[in-house]
Amino acid sequence: MAAFPDNFLWGAATAAWQVEGAHDEDGKGLSIWDVFSHQPGTTYQDTNGDVAVDHYHRFREDIALMAEMGLQSYRFSISWPRLLPAGRGEVNEAGVAFYSDLIDALLANNIEPMITLYHWDLPQALQDEGGWESRATATAFVEYARLCYARYGDRVKRWATFNETIVFIGHGYITGSHPPSVNNTARAIQACHHVFVAHALAVQAFRNTDIQGEIGFVNVLQPHTPLTQSAEDIAATELADAIHTHWFYDPILKGAYPEELLEQTQRLWGVPQCEPGDMALLRDNRCDFIGLNYYRRETVAANPGETSTQANHSGERQSAGEFGFKGLFKFVRNPQGVYTDWDWEIWPQGLTDGIMMIKARYGDIPIYITENGLGAKDPIVDGEVVDDPRIDYLRMHIDALENAIAMGADVRGYYPWSFIDLLSWLNGYKKQYGFVYVDHTQNLARKRKKSYYWYQNVIASHGEQR
Ligand code: FCB
Repeated sequence: MAAFPDNFLWGAATAAWQVEGAHDEDGKGLSIWDVFSHQPGTTYQDTNGDVAVDHYHRFREDIALMAEMGLQSYRFSISWPRLLPAGRGEVNEAGVAFYSDLIDALLANNIEPMITLYHWDLPQALQDEGGWESRATATAFVEYARLCYARYGDRVKRWATFNETIVFIGHGYITGSHPPSVNNTARAIQACHHVFVAHALAVQAFRNTDIQGEIGFVNVLQPHTPLTQSAEDIAATELADAIHTHWFYDPILKGAYPEELLEQTQRLWGVPQCEPGDMALLRDNRCDFIGLNYYRRETVAANPGETSTQANHSGERQSAGEFGFKGLFKFVRNPQGVYTDWDWEIWPQGLTDGIMMIKARYGDIPIYITENGLGAKDPIVDGEVVDDPRIDYLRMHIDALENAIAMGADVRGYYPWSFIDLLSWLNGYKKQYGFVYVDHTQNLARKRKKSYYWYQNVIASHGEQR
């Protein structure tokens, strides 16, 4: 049997704020990331998405590079405030036209678009009205989703509602390092609930269209391994799974919160506050596929000394770094681990294990690997970008994916992060992920890296040569 199914898609991914630029052009409204990144000290070297890598103006050149590479699918996100500058209401037709042209250009080159509706750039106008803490944002999201279905659904078959809820909620509302920079676990849990409701409503709206396609949700896949086999470390790891993983998958794939944890959040803070029918809505509108973003695993140790009952009863954050429930577990360095320059452990086996965990817990849901990649400072030798560590990283993860497929997982596509070097949310341009290099000293000129040619060959051989 062939290692990769015939219709398996070889793709690559990006997100609007990280590539587009043109942050206030052609009628676009500002997003929370436009506003946040303009506040001094919030991002590395005060980088912002005003220009990013100018994909807004150079998308045809970028798509030509994708086509030459043989890319079969491109995952990108739509900037909500580019379509609806105030978040709802008046439509910005120039913004609608941009993505319409992008989709046409992709299809003309036989590249299947995969749309992410929300990759973190909430319209600032909605943030001013409470953002995800306000249930009205979920209603606005459905209006935005319907607009996208109506304008692009004739051509786009693959849709995802949200990207990595744990990250934009965790950093937005607990560590405070992303907008809206809140430090309050109770508020995080409530905002997160509204995201889940928005997702279910958008799936419901999708099913009421006649789009011949599928809709899913994209989550971080982060396996946890106990530091030792002590009962304490194992219990800490189970808790990390519940908080960091099950909380974000169960509502989407089962229509229920993990019970024990829910009891605790209700007891401590009285959240999430659900309206009658919310959980039934989630149960009745489960998605067609799950997108997994896999980069690393975390090693977990018990962190005695504090218990959840000692947590501040208003839900206020007590220290940075962990998403709530401080004191019960901590992420530590794996003494045997191999780490990237940004201290992310390289652990390809985690991709196999994580996929099999999803299959065991949630059944045979179709899977796309919607992100996977190495953030590094790429060496330039004689003018060429020789990113061998990236090639090694991707090769090992494709091996891991092949193993999961051999074990019966229904994986339908692989989208390395990222197609092109782009703006990291907090790390500026020094953390590179792309197959294509962008020269910021030469008017953002594009240059193919060694990994570009390598991936071209992977695609051409349907994964055989790698
Ligand atoms: C993920 C995000 C993506 C990118 C990668 C490195 O958390 O989805 O936008 O920043 O990490």
